Amino acid sequence: MPGQDVWVKPEHVAIIMDGNGRWATARGLPRSAGHKAGVEALQRAVRAVGDRGIPWLTLYAFSSENWSRPKSEVSDLMGLLKFFIRRDLAELHRNGVRVRILGEREGLQKDIGALLREAEALTRANTRMNLQIAFNYGARDEIVRAARKAIAAAQAGEFDRLDEAVFASMLDTADAPDPDLVIRTGGDQRLSNFLLWQAAYAELVFLDCRWPDFGEAELDAALAQFGSRQRRFGGVVARDAS
Ligand code: FPP
Repeated sequence: MPGQDVWVKPEHVAIIMDGNGRWATARGLPRSAGHKAGVEALQRAVRAVGDRGIPWLTLYAFSSENWSRPKSEVSDLMGLLKFFIRRDLAELHRNGVRVRILGEREGLQKDIGALLREAEALTRANTRMNLQIAFNYGARDEIVRAARKAIAAAQAGEFDRLDEAVFASMLDTADAPDPDLVIRTGGDQRLSNFLLWQAAYAELVFLDCRWPDFGEAELDAALAQFGSRQRRFGGVVARDAS
């Protein structure tokens, strides 16, 4: 948000959960074991972020590009999404978490589509924390889908002039604040088609730890880095402005 100086605590944290495969390989385990351990880390992350009073968390669980992985791995990841929702939805709901799924729904298996709708419908009225799970998500695809919606809305005469706020309202993340902090585990330093519009002014923190090893200590280290950064949003810091 322009004009805001330093934020001690972010309002919205987004995470690229990378390194499951390498975590498993380093232990002589199949990659699927890494993804399974990744689900436990995901559950820990939701709790830890909620416990720190951060109201928005977005997790990159399956990208539009992940379909190019071996069939068995794609099917493991689909199975884990179902496992996660079936096992953890009730707890998320009890804890006041509103779940929203980002990404393209068309083309997903019917039972997965139904589970995603169930998770959103059950938790719709919750207000303690917002959990967005990017599944079958790619930022370029999201932007193109939003552009199509904008064209249709313009043709229907729903707005006079397309501006940033109108366009943002057509993204999957409509009404969510932009992420202040994007964390990527696994050592690589790139965004991999994640929240390209929304992360325009996000602070990026890259951690070497592999996703299954992510826990409270790693989250706190990322938050400490965030707290030490000076955010200028293209402007100048207050003390330099005159
Ligand atoms: C990257 O690890 C991680 C993913 C492909 C997706 C994240 C998935 C989970 C945390 C588990 C599944 C959870 C749900 C809800 C579907 P990688 O395989 O790219 O690791 P590597 O870079 O070490 O190979």
